[in-house]
Amino acid sequence: MGTEEEGAPLGPVAGSRGTGSARMVLFPLVGRATSEERVVVRRLVVMGAGGHAREVLDVLESLPEGTAWERVTVFAEPGATTPGAAALIWQRGHELVDVLPTDATHHLPAVGDPALRRRFAELAERHGLLPAGAVSPSSTVPEALRGVPGLVVFPRSHVSTNVTLGAHCHLNTGCQVSHDGRLGDRVTLGPGVLVAGGVTIEDDAFLGIGAVVLPGRRIGRAAVVGAGAVVVHDVAPGTTVAGNPARPLGLR
Ligand SMILES: CC(C)(COP(=O)(O)OP(=O)(O)OC[C@H]1O[C@@H](n2cnc3c(N)ncnc32)[C@H](O)[C@@H]1OP(=O)(O)O)[C@@H](O)C(=O)NCCC(=O)NCCS
Repeated sequence: MGTEEEGAPLGPVAGSRGTGSARMVLFPLVGRATSEERVVVRRLVVMGAGGHAREVLDVLESLPEGTAWERVTVFAEPGATTPGAAALIWQRGHELVDVLPTDATHHLPAVGDPALRRRFAELAERHGLLPAGAVSPSSTVPEALRGVPGLVVFPRSHVSTNVTLGAHCHLNTGCQVSHDGRLGDRVTLGPGVLVAGGVTIEDDAFLGIGAVVLPGRRIGRAAVVGAGAVVVHDVAPGTTVAGNPARPLGLR
């Protein structure tokens, strides 16, 4: 059976360094499915090389054994990564590149900023890469949502019943999204965010660590909710709010 091109060149990898193939085994075996004569090769590019990306790598590495990302490459924009941050990626055994490898098949934007996540996803899609996702085994997420493109759920989070999540949402450690929540595309929930029942969070909103959103509130597109804020009123699109009760910065 012809398998992956062992030792195949990575394509244009200007500025790349590293140790070659990732050593870990990731994702269930279905990821490396054999369909008749064809072996489906899955090479994942994690887009981002900062702390958030390393946390996404933690989630990938925690997935059940048996799997299928036969190579994980980390992509960073040219000049975006300090030597210290790059070293932390290399130490994990990953290649770090600043041009998307031509043999990559899937992408996973791994930055906290929704706008940058959108840019990375668009770049990858222009290169024909398919979206991957990663849900920590210690989080509880309804089966129907696990296939949401680009969804990343860090450890010990809970997504309740009748919730919808848009593409490329990132839920950090210890978040709760209660019943009937509606999250748009690229929503970021920082660590320990608590979202009560029936809340709507529109595309590209960012909620800082420990924010709390009361039932039924709406957080507008690209709004920012500060760390520790308690959202008791709807938040207008593009607004930054903070405090308890949360109010727009500058109006407090
Ligand atoms: C709300 C936030 C976005 C504002 O950032 P900013 O525009 O750079 O604001 P500044 O730091 O200049 O602070 C502006 C004012 O708001 C206050 N402020 C900032 N963040 C606040 C917060 N979370 N709660 C209450 N007040 C806050 C500051 O004290 C300052 O007040 P002052 O002018 O009276 O001194 C940011 O502080 C924040 O909370 N980000 C969330 C970060 C986070 O949780 N990331 C997740 C990491 S995993």
